[in-house]
Amino acid sequence: MKISTFVASPRKKGNSKYIAEHFEKGVSSWYLGNKNNPQSNNIIRLTDYNINPCRGCGYCDDKAKCVIKDDMKTLYPIIEDSDIITFVTPIYFASVPAQFKAFIDRFQPYYAAKYLLNEPVIPPSNNKKVILYVVSGYNKQSFFENVKGILEIFCLNLNIDLTHSFYYGGIDALGEILNRPEILTEIETFGRNLQDEL
Ligand SMILES: Cc1cc2nc3c(=O)[nH]c(=O)nc-3n(C[C@H](O)[C@H](O)[C@H](O)COP(=O)(O)O)c2cc1C
Repeated sequence: MKISTFVASPRKKGNSKYIAEHFEKGVSSWYLGNKNNPQSNNIIRLTDYNINPCRGCGYCDDKAKCVIKDDMKTLYPIIEDSDIITFVTPIYFASVPAQFKAFIDRFQPYYAAKYLLNEPVIPPSNNKKVILYVVSGYNKQSFFENVKGILEIFCLNLNIDLTHSFYYGGIDALGEILNRPEILTEIETFGRNLQDEL
């Protein structure tokens, strides 16, 4: 069992970081005690990686590979190898931050593999799950629905189920979520109980 948590915020001490850490803390309560699991979970900050935007060059249409040489070569295998993939993202202009959007767009080779070549990279029958956490300054459901819609398409493209999504609106300042212990407890409890669903 491999669990990877991607943080899309560029802010090192942003609200997304604390959401990811509390989720991981909950998960660790059962995950680290199991000898079949790797020793530590992965928290991956997307902004630590060099992710170039898709050029729409069409190379992947028949090769199912991307021509761009950058850190996606490290990130693709993490997605392919993980059983539970959690994304934690702030809302930027009713959407996801640019780094996250670039990451998503770079899965166009997976689109080509599935829809153009009929050879999906991740087979349709798999037990992978995606969990989504969204945080934003305003508390606006339509912003959340936008982001969820983007992730639904990402998951469809990869044959993975988006099984859970959570929205914490009205949280804006750096680390403001630390003033909301009830939210952090809820996140940690979800991670702790996740084992029951596997
Ligand atoms: C460029 C930019 C765009 C933003 N756009 C929105 C927005 O459209 N709606 C909103 O509610 N909050 C917006 N915010 C506020 C962030 O969602 C909010 O500060 C969030 O808590 C940041 O999460 P983080 O601390 O994990 O980075 C924006 C912030 C930035 C920097």
